[in-house]
Amino acid sequence: MTKMTFTFDHLLVLLGFCSMWQRTDGQTLGKVVIWGPSEGTVKDIKEFFCKVDEIPEDVSVQYQLIKEGDSKKPIEYTSLSGEPAQFNIFVVSDHDGRYKCKASGHNNTEVLPSYSNSLRFRVIEKIVNAHIVLDPPSEEFWVEESVTLQCNVTGGTYVSYHWLLDNVPVQHHYNRSQNQLTIQSLSTSDSGRYTCVASNQLNYTLFSNSSDFKNVNVKEHVSDPKISFEFVKRENGNFSAVVKCQSEKGTSPINFSLLRNNDNFAEKLDEDLQASFEVPIQLDQNMGFAQCLANDRTRRVLSEPLNITVESVGGAVTMSVDRTVTNNSVVWAVWLRCSVERGTFPEYSWFLNNTRLEKQNLFQHQTNDAVFPVILVPEAAGIYHCEAANAFDTTTRVLSQKWRINKEVMNRVPLTVVIIVFTCFFVVIVAVTACCLYGVVLRKKKARIYNLKEEFTDMRSIYDDIINEDEDDEVNVAVYEEDMDIVEASRIEDSDEDEDEQSSIADEESDEEKNFLDEETIEGAGTEETELD
Ligand SMILES: *[C@@H]1O[C@H](CO)[C@@H](O)[C@H](O)[C@H]1NC(C)=O
Ligand SMILES: *[C@@H]1O[C@H](CO)[C@@H](O)[C@H](O)[C@H]1NC(C)=O
Ligand SMILES: *[C@@H]1O[C@H](CO)[C@@H](O)[C@H](O)[C@H]1NC(C)=O
Ligand SMILES: *[C@@H]1O[C@H](CO)[C@@H](O)[C@H](O)[C@H]1NC(C)=O
Ligand SMILES: *[C@@H]1O[C@H](CO)[C@@H](O)[C@H](O)[C@H]1NC(C)=O
Ligand SMILES: *[C@@H]1O[C@H](CO)[C@@H](O)[C@H](O)[C@H]1NC(C)=O
Ligand SMILES: *[C@@H]1O[C@H](CO)[C@@H](O)[C@H](O)[C@H]1NC(C)=O
Ligand SMILES: *[C@@H]1O[C@H](CO)[C@@H](O)[C@H](O)[C@H]1NC(C)=O
Ligand SMILES: *[C@@H]1O[C@H](CO)[C@@H](O)[C@H](O)[C@H]1NC(C)=O
Ligand SMILES: *[C@@H]1O[C@H](CO)[C@@H](O)[C@H](O)[C@H]1NC(C)=O
Repeated sequence: MTKMTFTFDHLLVLLGFCSMWQRTDGQTLGKVVIWGPSEGTVKDIKEFFCKVDEIPEDVSVQYQLIKEGDSKKPIEYTSLSGEPAQFNIFVVSDHDGRYKCKASGHNNTEVLPSYSNSLRFRVIEKIVNAHIVLDPPSEEFWVEESVTLQCNVTGGTYVSYHWLLDNVPVQHHYNRSQNQLTIQSLSTSDSGRYTCVASNQLNYTLFSNSSDFKNVNVKEHVSDPKISFEFVKRENGNFSAVVKCQSEKGTSPINFSLLRNNDNFAEKLDEDLQASFEVPIQLDQNMGFAQCLANDRTRRVLSEPLNITVESVGGAVTMSVDRTVTNNSVVWAVWLRCSVERGTFPEYSWFLNNTRLEKQNLFQHQTNDAVFPVILVPEAAGIYHCEAANAFDTTTRVLSQKWRINKEVMNRVPLTVVIIVFTCFFVVIVAVTACCLYGVVLRKKKARIYNLKEEFTDMRSIYDDIINEDEDDEVNVAVYEEDMDIVEASRIEDSDEDEDEQSSIADEESDEEKNFLDEETIEGAGTEETELD
């Protein structure tokens, strides 16, 4: 009996256990879902919702909205009739973060709690103020230095930064989510007014505030100065060299000094990167060297030395053909060049039939008055010459030789070509003649040998042959000497002509195109002109 009771008791216990297992198992909550806005501004009221997709019967669900990493008591919501939980939040800046829902049984610890995924909620706050802080804290920089501009905002979250230089987006790369713009190596193009625009997304519109601007001035180191000078005649008759020192790059103020023979002569602050110094000098006297020194407090740079001696125009003036223009092997224009032996500042003028010619602008690229273009039209034909004078004082003039210039003269076959052709022709004639003479003599001799052979022995005939050959040589030499005389005569003629030619082209450069010139004719033109005079 007791045994039976025991068995029954036991069964009850087992049944009880079984039913307990079954109950607990059935009260596992389904998946929890959270939804709500992803961002909001301070003082907004925002609604978040949580829901369990499967709720066991007779179980009320307790929801908790938990902010990750926050130890404060979570907000709770009890859903008695299976409706989703609703949390109304009055947004403060602290609310920024990640949120999760926890669902558990209400007054029922036997129901295992369940968690949702997390939801990111951003609290976007107004940017109150923004201003730029420079590091290093200066507005003056030298090229290749580095600078960091920091956009310091008060208030504001989730700010992105935009940089403007003179109201145009800057060219340098920067991270829009960081408030810094770093320029590693400044250049002059980085100079200007910097503005930072700080903005964030507030109610899906762009809210921004421009900072106060900051002016950045990037200075350039002074470059090596160039030195040049002009020569001027003062009213009192004294002469001066106006020495100009000029740097291509640099930032004012630059202190320019003029050194004369390595001694400090004068110093001046720059005007637009240049400075001029007046140095009294005397004509045709060695005035030594001048040098410019530029100093911008970061570096001192020297120019090349310049000889400031001024020599007046003198010596021979030479006119030559600089180049010719041909069309179908016909010369139709020439550039005449005038050069003077001495003179630091020569100025040239051009004359046709002793009438001064105005500067011609026939060819755009020809501006130098040392070169003069002539188009070989009939109206431009005549006797040309040039004159050189000091640019600063045109009272003394030096004249060149005179040339007849016209189309025919410029297109005549050059004498050298004639001489060469004639000489070649002559040499050929001489050679042919020599060959003919030699041929005649050889035939005579051969005939004689044949006759002798009949009268003498073989040995004797060989001996005779040798003798005859000697005689033969003598004949040859005679012919050759005769030839030499002719060659000699022609060579003397040639060299006469060559000398003439050389004297006429002595002043000219060996320009290929100049071969078109008939130098002898030009020389002749000179003599013709003297006759005319
Ligand atoms: C849940 O339990 C608390 C005490 O733990 C009690 O005050 C409350 O009335 C109970 N609620 C329900 C619905 O049973
Ligand atoms: C922008 O910043 C200035 C101060 O730099 C402030 O006076 C102004 O109110 C700000 N603008 C807005 C719209 O907040
Ligand atoms: C940014 O500005 C605030 C106040 O305007 C100041 O306290 C803070 O030091 C500034 N930060 C920097 C890097 O200058
Ligand atoms: C920009 O800066 C943010 C914050 O410092 C960083 O997370 C991000 O990776 C940066 N972006 C780039 C392209 O460097
Ligand atoms: C957000 O913008 C909408 C329309 O664009 C407007 O109706 C609403 O009042 C704005 N809310 C805030 C907080 O500015
Ligand atoms: C002109 O030069 C002479 C010497 O070259 C000098 O004595 C004189 O003072 C100069 N005159 C002026 C006005 O500079
Ligand atoms: C220019 O430099 C010289 C030395 O090189 C100095 O004596 C002078 O004071 C400087 N002048 C100015 C205006 O800086
Ligand atoms: C400077 O130039 C002149 C002629 O222009 C010359 O006679 C003189 O020797 C030059 N001086 C030096 C030091 O070269
Ligand atoms: C070259 O000459 C030909 C005739 O000989 C003429 O038709 C042509 O226009 C000339 N060209 C120039 C560039 O003068
Ligand atoms: C220049 O003089 C020559 C005579 O020597 C004459 O043939 C020619 O037409 C003159 N030229 C001009 C442009 O007067």
